[in-house]
Amino acid sequence: MKILVVGSGGREHALAWKLAQSERVQTIFVAPGNGGTVQDPRLKNIALTDSVALADFVEKEQISLTVVGPEVPLAAGIVNVFRERGLKIFGPSKEAAQLESSKDFAKSFMQRHAIPTAEYKTFSDLAAAHEYIAQKGAPIVIKADGLAAGKGVVVAMSLEEAHGAVDMMLSDNKLGDAGARVVIEEFLAGEEASFIVMVDGKNILPLATSQDHKRLMDNDEGPNTGGMGAYSPAPIVTPQLHARVMREIIVPTVQGMAKDGIVFTGFLYAGLMIDDHGNPKTLEFNCRMGDPETQPIMARLKTDLVHVMEHAVNGTLDTVELEWDRRTAMGVVMAAAGYPDTPRKGDVITGIPPETPESVTFHAGTALADGKLTVTGGRVLCVVGLGDTVKLAQKHAYEVVEKIHFNGAQYRRDIGWRAMNKKH
Ligand code: AMP
Ligand code: GLY
Repeated sequence: MKILVVGSGGREHALAWKLAQSERVQTIFVAPGNGGTVQDPRLKNIALTDSVALADFVEKEQISLTVVGPEVPLAAGIVNVFRERGLKIFGPSKEAAQLESSKDFAKSFMQRHAIPTAEYKTFSDLAAAHEYIAQKGAPIVIKADGLAAGKGVVVAMSLEEAHGAVDMMLSDNKLGDAGARVVIEEFLAGEEASFIVMVDGKNILPLATSQDHKRLMDNDEGPNTGGMGAYSPAPIVTPQLHARVMREIIVPTVQGMAKDGIVFTGFLYAGLMIDDHGNPKTLEFNCRMGDPETQPIMARLKTDLVHVMEHAVNGTLDTVELEWDRRTAMGVVMAAAGYPDTPRKGDVITGIPPETPESVTFHAGTALADGKLTVTGGRVLCVVGLGDTVKLAQKHAYEVVEKIHFNGAQYRRDIGWRAMNKKH
């Protein structure tokens, strides 16, 4: 059979890599793909991004199943376009994707269905927003309502920063329409975890737990990024906490969406903040898998992903059991010079070793031209190491990272530190 993966990042490379391991697969198309997917003989890049053009391609090539990686095509309605034409696709409809594409939608949904989250208020009026901040004090969190490619959240530690963030979004329109409304919410302290499940409309299948590192530099310093590294499993998510998150957050979300008349299908990602007493609250929802969480999660998945996806689009996820590699997988992101603000393109990448049972390198912002692999975007590679302990997984990842070279490469040297502190 043929499969289409939509997207061009490390997440999509990892999904396509895992799907390609199925014996039932003939070709996996990746649209548009990157310099890693183009080098894998089982994968084929196609230079299409428009939903209608992709649906035409799927019909012409008789592709059985489409999996969507990023939020932008989901929020734009690619699933609606495919379903109208009777094509099988795994992801949420445009309406269901609002859980990610509108922070105000997600917050009012959580409030309506009593799902634990930070207290909040939504504003489009500048003066009212400033007044609310003055009344609540700092620290406080300002979020653009719409999709802002990771730039829409300001965790303001001071009042000055908070007022500045509101001005940036509501008055200077720095984020365009995405920032025309802002959610202002209570600051939550604690440790974050990524909780990702697959939903077929009714049944919920949790994936292995994971945690990522949002800040650019070691010790969680520097600016927020899309994620500088991630690992699976996340020791903070104990079996007890897992059960509680399912009961208090995930199940009420899936049932609440259905009650509201918007059936959710696709990957559902709850970004959690877990306080010192082990109580989880929802920071945000994503309607897709995480990047870079997908890379270590896929490296650990033993079950045939094609089989899982077929059940996911047919509404029979209740019959699927996932098998995981018991080892820890540690993904270290290598980013371009200047990332996250002004990533430099064009640097030549060398030294990527072939995959081994202990490591695999997924590409993101790369392209292959004239036999040369070059940097084309912010996050360039995600090197995943596997090992029986957190420490060993980390060692295997960094041994590979040190072999790879491109000018100005930025990477953290402490990916996995929280897991390391918990386990040893
Ligand atoms: P979000 O896109 O909503 O997950 O926000 C991006 C990052 O901002 C999160 O991963 C957290 O690190 C941080 N953040 C978001 N909301 C809060 C909050 N209410 N309290 C503290 N930190 C937050
Ligand atoms: N790694 C965070 C995200 O995918 O949103």
